[in-house]
Amino acid sequence: MIGKLNHIAIAVPNIKEAAAQYKNVFGATVSEAVEQPDHGVTTVFIDLGNTKIELLEVLGDDSPIQKFIDKNPKGGMHHICLEVQNIDEAIKQLDTHEVAITGTGKPKIGAHNKPVVFLHPKDCNGTLIELEEV
Ligand code: CO
Repeated sequence: MIGKLNHIAIAVPNIKEAAAQYKNVFGATVSEAVEQPDHGVTTVFIDLGNTKIELLEVLGDDSPIQKFIDKNPKGGMHHICLEVQNIDEAIKQLDTHEVAITGTGKPKIGAHNKPVVFLHPKDCNGTLIELEEV
């Protein structure tokens, strides 16, 4: 069911500083910061060739990453994103194995304009997993 690693997301307290470190210290290819008001985050993508790092910063008053940043004020690894060919099939399969999906349990259009769901860390070895249909 799962395919490639699409990205690893790191929540950061200051996305400009984090992006500057990846660019100037690590010498990486870094995108512009994009505000995503529908998702409550600002994002920067770092292209690593084989995969990406997604930097996330809180945007607005009810950001889904606010609690995480409160607990991890210096930032931290927030989720991994794995690709699937068919998200509805994936959800069915997960359902039969009692892997919980967060929120409504239905796919939402994610930050990259593709259907995504998040699997609950309690059922995934303590890791928040985003599935993205590609
Ligand atoms: Co993501």
